[in-house]
Amino acid sequence: MWRRYLFWFAHEHNDFRHAEIQSILSIFDIPIKYIEKPCAKKPYWIVELPSEESVKKIASRSVLIKNCIELWSSTKSVSQLHRNLKDALLNTNQEWIVKTDPDKGVGEHICPNTLIEACCSANKSFKIEVETFCKHFTMKEKVEKIEAFSYLPLNGPVRLKDPDVTLAYLEYYGVDPNNVPEEPYEVFFGRWVADGQRDLIQYHSLKRRQFIGNTSMDAQLALIMANQARVVSGDLVLDPFVGSGSLLVAAAHFGGYVWGSDIDFMMLHARTRPTRVGQKARTKEESIRGNMRQYGTESLYLDAVVSDFSLPMWKPGMQFDAIITDPPYGVREPTEKIGIERENYTLSEEHLVNHIPSKVEYGLPQLYDDLLEFAANHLKTGKRLVCWYPMVREEECHSLQFPQHPRMALVSASEQPLSRATCRRLLTYEKLTTHTDTRPLPHNAPHNFREKYFALGEITRREKKERKAEEKARAEFYKSKNGVT
Ligand SMILES: C[S@@+](CC[C@H](N)C(=O)[O-])C[C@H]1O[C@@H](n2cnc3c(N)ncnc32)[C@H](O)[C@@H]1O
Repeated sequence: MWRRYLFWFAHEHNDFRHAEIQSILSIFDIPIKYIEKPCAKKPYWIVELPSEESVKKIASRSVLIKNCIELWSSTKSVSQLHRNLKDALLNTNQEWIVKTDPDKGVGEHICPNTLIEACCSANKSFKIEVETFCKHFTMKEKVEKIEAFSYLPLNGPVRLKDPDVTLAYLEYYGVDPNNVPEEPYEVFFGRWVADGQRDLIQYHSLKRRQFIGNTSMDAQLALIMANQARVVSGDLVLDPFVGSGSLLVAAAHFGGYVWGSDIDFMMLHARTRPTRVGQKARTKEESIRGNMRQYGTESLYLDAVVSDFSLPMWKPGMQFDAIITDPPYGVREPTEKIGIERENYTLSEEHLVNHIPSKVEYGLPQLYDDLLEFAANHLKTGKRLVCWYPMVREEECHSLQFPQHPRMALVSASEQPLSRATCRRLLTYEKLTTHTDTRPLPHNAPHNFREKYFALGEITRREKKERKAEEKARAEFYKSKNGVT
């Protein structure tokens, strides 16, 4: 039976909510009805779903949802909320009814009494929790708010730890901390059903991760990426710009078998300068495998290999269930590929043995064309590529055009601001059909993102220092290998 639920979100990454929840709905094939059009500014959605089981499934994956509540009432004032709940106690219909106020002409939605009754038996312990958004209340004030619900026929004992039923009361005071109203804009009451996966963000935090690099992906965004890529148990997942492997950690958490590749030998072998402030040298435990071991997912780690993405090493028939990646933008790491600018260059026999190939600029338009073409060839039909895409915000207003490919449908493009002038978008594509060899379509990739980023004065002194030291360490490493660069 369809019921009404409140999804209460964390107030961050608002632009990612829709894409994350839609992806999770499609993983479990759950239909949804929006009772109120989701608004990115408000931290809640009111929806209808076919079963409590489906709510629990959504919550089992979402990192943006804080909690899901079976809604008994939502309205504009505290006194109206109490009137609605009292009316609900008399609503013996199985359905919600709409009660119109003759003076105001507005309809109040009254839930069926069966929802409340189900929580009232003498053997069901309960507690009521109060959450207020954008306004702080003391414990005493919160207790007063709880006592205002004393008319509810809750016959069981109060139990604060692990009760059978948790009832939730929420007051929403808007999103502007400088303009908080006396009374809330919206109030909600209902039965708590499930928490989202916010705890995972702490569990996977980079602060406690064994091996991290300068560009390791924040735990929350990595988990959102794995959700948008719809990674499920047994999937084969690739990150072709793997770095320290943070996206593999997230994909493996949801049961994916993970592969990575990266052009940077130093990064893959944890020989770059330590990223943590105060750490002098890398430890032996620092590696992608070490990270997987830390989270108990080593058995899902296939491997990571040194490889230039512009020269993919995979057999044509190799098929992945998901590709999730954060390509280089040329800001904190260079965008390079193997190559040489000199024409007709040959290597003598003597130099061949220790040869370390030189690199040339790997322009972003070419890189994203290669990525979409690779995904079109190596993803199974219906499977997803999820990748970040850097943008200069000013240009974005003029021409919002993302990389395109005739066999890859763009599903979402959520924005994360990086600075005043730049942002990146998390692009999610779905592979449409197989057996065509059409090349990527032209697009306005920010081929000079790096120059624009620096021209806009976005680099910090710390980044400059880090980069200089990194270049020095790299040069020393190559020197020690007697390599020709
Ligand atoms: C933004 S970082 C990825 C960070 C990674 N998601 C993590 O969590 O550590 C981009 C990575 O792409 C790698 N890269 C740059 N050019 C490449 C190329 N041509 N082929 C493969 N990897 C490349 C860099 O070495 C760098 O590790």
